[in-house]
This record gives sequence, structure tokens and C-alpha cells, in this order.
Amino acid sequence: VGDIITIPVVVHIVYRTSQENISDAQIQSQIDVLNEDFRRLNSDADNTWSQAADMQIEFCLATVDPNGNATTGITRKSSTRTSWGTNDAVKSVSQGGVAAWNTSEYLNMWVANIGGGILGYAQFPGGAASTDGVVMSPQYFGSSDKGTGFYLSAPFDKGRTTTHEVGHFLNLRHIWGDGGCGVDDFVSDTPTSDASNGGCNIGHVSCGTVDMVQNYMDYSDDACMNLFTNGQKARMRATLLPGGIRASL
Ligand code: ARG
Ligand code: ZN
Ligand code: CA
Repeated sequence: VGDIITIPVVVHIVYRTSQENISDAQIQSQIDVLNEDFRRLNSDADNTWSQAADMQIEFCLATVDPNGNATTGITRKSSTRTSWGTNDAVKSVSQGGVAAWNTSEYLNMWVANIGGGILGYAQFPGGAASTDGVVMSPQYFGSSDKGTGFYLSAPFDKGRTTTHEVGHFLNLRHIWGDGGCGVDDFVSDTPTSDASNGGCNIGHVSCGTVDMVQNYMDYSDDACMNLFTNGQKARMRATLLPGGIRASL
């Protein structure tokens, strides 16, 4: 319980091909998905798990840039680079990327081709300011449910990669804790699991209980995911509330 927290977002598009230079409409579709998923307003929300909750967190494209000027909250830069990997080069001007906007005031999202079959990656709270934020490949940023002609790749075409990465950005671990049954995600209302689930493995049992494959922090397909829990809410909001490591957002 508490107030709605709204996080200003800047989206940095770093593209080589015109396809990778995704449209404003595709970008907005991703912001819309975040606002649905973090408020549990997603139309695919189901009642399988009673601990599913509204995170009371919202997102808006920034309207003022770091110099105090009006902005769309979107930056675009062309590049000759075909893939960026996960070493944060996309965040570095000297490596051809785009520098973060003040990470204490904005959630920075870079959209660039990561390569290697990687959908996205995030920095947990407490890391270096210059690399703080989330990175997604363009074909996984936005939702095919919200427009046509978007550059998206099924079954990761519903915007859940960004929901998942923002979960990490707000301190959530993978639901299986990245280890076996003895390894936790530090959230008490998510069942212990011994590994990730892919596809849509509903009913899969590990560690003696049914896995929560519908959780955004598993590796299920986008259409299979539909929830964060009350325990995840407490963990994310703790980083954003006064005294939290991301309180300045
Ligand atoms: N593999 C990525 C990560 O661990 C993202 C997984 C996103 N899953 C999805 N269904 N979109 O951060
Ligand atoms: Zn992850
Ligand atoms: Ca747990």
C-alpha cells in the first residue's frame, strides 16, 4: 500500500538499419505495456496465483531533458555497429554509443541490437551511475498487440522483456534465484524453483511445488507471463521509497 510512484524514462535508440530505428509508436507501445504490467492492468492477468499484485509503479517518457529543455524522451543515433553485446559499449560515447542521462533522475533505456540471441540485460541497484539502466534489442521492445508494422520477433513480441529487465533494475532476481532448490530470490511469496522455465510450462513442478511460470522474472514466453507478486512489490518499492537506493527517481 502507498502512493503511485512514477518513473521518468528516456529511451536511447541506437540503430544501424532502418528496421532497428523503431518508430515512436513502437516505443510508446512498450511504455504502455510497462504501465499495464506494473499496475496489473494487463488484459492477460489471470487468477492462478493469489499473491499477484499491483506494483503501483508507473512510467512516463521524460518531458524535460537534463538541460531543462522540452524533450520527447526519445534520442536517436545512427551507428555502423551490427551488434553491441552486453559490455555496456552502447552506453559509451567513445565506443559509438549514447551516454546516460542523469541516472538519479531518469530510468535510461537503450534499444540497440545486442546480438547473440540476448533479448535484454539490466543493471541492479548499486552499480556504476554511468551504466545504470536497461538495454533491450529492438525486436523485443514494444508489443505487437498495440499496433501494426512494428519490428518485433515472436514469441518475445509482447514487451515482457522490458518488464523483466525493469524488474532487475528495481532489484528483483530471477524467480529461481539462478540456482537450485536451496537458492532463493529473496522473495517469500514466490515458490522455490530449481531452474528457469521456457515456453509456457504451466504446472511444472520443481523443489516439491508448482513453479510460478507466469511470473515476469521467469524465462517463459511473453504470452505466458502475467504477474509480479506482493513480495516482489515490497522489494521493488523499497528501492524507490525514501531511504531506498533509487529514491531519487
Ligand atoms: N534473458 C533476459 C534476462 O535474463 C530476458 C528474458 C526475458 N523473457 C521474456 N519472456 N521476454 O534478463
Ligand atoms: Zn533476467
Ligand atoms: Ca521465493
